[in-house]
Amino acid sequence: MNKKHLESIANKMLEKPKGILAMDESNPTIAKRLASIGVENSESNRRKYRELIVTTPNLSNFISGTILFDETFRQEMSSGVLFIEHLKNIGILPGIKVDKGAKDLSNHENEKITEGLDGLRERLEEYSKLGAKFCKWRAVITIGNKIPSKACIFSNCNALARYASLCQENDLVPIVEPEVLIDGDYTIEKSYEVTKETLECLFHQINIFNIHLPGTVLKPSMVISGNKNNSRADYNQVAEMTIKCLSECLPHELAGIAFLSGGQTDDESTNHLNLMNKKFMELPWRVTFSYARAIQQSALKAWGGIDNNIVKSQEVLINRASLCSKASIGQL
Ligand code: 13P
Repeated sequence: MNKKHLESIANKMLEKPKGILAMDESNPTIAKRLASIGVENSESNRRKYRELIVTTPNLSNFISGTILFDETFRQEMSSGVLFIEHLKNIGILPGIKVDKGAKDLSNHENEKITEGLDGLRERLEEYSKLGAKFCKWRAVITIGNKIPSKACIFSNCNALARYASLCQENDLVPIVEPEVLIDGDYTIEKSYEVTKETLECLFHQINIFNIHLPGTVLKPSMVISGNKNNSRADYNQVAEMTIKCLSECLPHELAGIAFLSGGQTDDESTNHLNLMNKKFMELPWRVTFSYARAIQQSALKAWGGIDNNIVKSQEVLINRASLCSKASIGQL
């Protein structure tokens, strides 16, 4: 493990005033996104859409790195240039999603365990040779009747730590993503409790596995009311309770935090991030974004699968990226 290299990549990922663009939707997920605009989920349409994203003018002003799915990582753009080459040329770090998805957790109804550890060392060696600089692994925790269970939290956090260790062995910065899903009618207090239990378990595992913290990026969900709650907490409460929770659970040595948007509206995702950076200026870590939907959703709609809309769609995308960038330094 080259600690200095890991630290230098992590610092580039977290460079101000930028954040990370997640465009690593698996084929079933991108199928849903394309279906929402009536576009067929073919390889050429996936390429067209992702090419639209990475060729958006001035993207690197606001984006330090992009997370790709395996297909895009190996794919050429219509010009014949590989996506990862193009990203390198415009100064954006290429990253790769390496988990194999969240599968049903045995004997635990409605809970998931993320798979993909078998053979991961060999896959990471290959991605590293091909030019990846960082990786992502997403675990999902569901809040519901008597869940999450300890088994779900523990097994997912243990897998995240094992993944992070293998990444660092291959000089790849791990993005460690424990997502507490927004689905449900739960209160913000419940979200705080579950997020805290999850993060405490995660950093306990990370400590056991001797993960190099300055070469690690955390991608958490915010502490927030469930999306079906009738009296959802306001922007200030989300910002305050999220920072309280992170401050109680995270070691100072961690390189930084890049939030997921997790189904928040565009406005929620930017206002929450902005308030955190505005109100809490003395945090030990950088607090930025690693959004997929909150950057892509409006641009996807503006495109609608029509070539003549590409420029308009790119304008929408860069506007979202610019707002997220401002929020990442509390200047929205
Ligand atoms: P969202 O911002 O849409 O939650 O996606 C982030 C991500 O990478 C999910 O793994």
